[in-house]
Amino acid sequence: MSFSASESVSPALVSPDEISLEKLSSSPPLKLGIMASGTGSNFVAIADAIAQHHLAAHIQVVIYNNPDAPVAQRAQERQIPTHLINHRHFSTREVFDQQIVDRLREADVDWVVMVGWMRRVTQVLIDAFPDRMINIHPSLLPSFPGIRAIEQALEHQVKISGCTVHIVRLEVDSGPILIQAAVPVYPEDTPASLHRRIQIQEHRIIVQAIAQLIQNRLTPCRQ
Ligand code: GRF
Repeated sequence: MSFSASESVSPALVSPDEISLEKLSSSPPLKLGIMASGTGSNFVAIADAIAQHHLAAHIQVVIYNNPDAPVAQRAQERQIPTHLINHRHFSTREVFDQQIVDRLREADVDWVVMVGWMRRVTQVLIDAFPDRMINIHPSLLPSFPGIRAIEQALEHQVKISGCTVHIVRLEVDSGPILIQAAVPVYPEDTPASLHRRIQIQEHRIIVQAIAQLIQNRLTPCRQ
C-alpha cells in the first residue's frame, strides 16, 4: 500500500496515544475544507481546537448539502464561509461532486474533512483530492459501514463499538484507517445513548487525526 499514515498510528480498539497538540501550533496552517450536513458537533470540535491554537489549521470553507443542517449556522457564527450545494439540484452524483470540487478548489483547500457527510462520493472527488480526504464514521470499521452503523452495532449485540477516522476511498466507509477509539456498549443502550458516548470520542479523534496530518504532512500517492 502506498499510503503510509496508518503505520505511524496506534492500532485499533484502544484509544490512540495523544499527540502533543501544543507542539504542532508552530507549523504553517493546514487549509481544510469541511464537508458536513448534520448538527456539526465534529465541526465545532475542529473549529474550537483551531481557535485554541491546538491545531495549526484553518477552515477555508464548510460545504453542506442539506439546507436545514445546523452545521451551517455554527460555521457562520464563527465567520467561516459556507456553501450550500444541494444534491437535489444536480442530475448525477458526478455533476454534484464536480460542483463541490470547484468550491473546494476556489477555497484553496489542502485537505478535505468529512464530518457527517451522508452522500456517496464519486471518482470525481477522489481524483481531485487523492488521499487527501478523511471521514469519520461511528463504528469500528470495517464493521458496520454505511448508514445505521449504530443501530447495526446494537442489533448485533456487540459489547464494544466506537468510531473511526479513515482516508476516503470510493467504496463507502473504506480506506486506510488513521485512528480508532473504542467505547463500551451497555445492555440498556439506545441508538441515541450509544451515539452520545461515541461522539465524545469522535470529537477527540477527529482533532487527533488532523494533528497527524499536520505532523506527517502526508504526501498523496497519486496526483
Ligand atoms: C457523526 O456521528 C459521524 O460519525 C457521522 O455523522 C455524525 C455527524 O455528527 N458520519 P455531527 O454533525 O458532527 O454532530
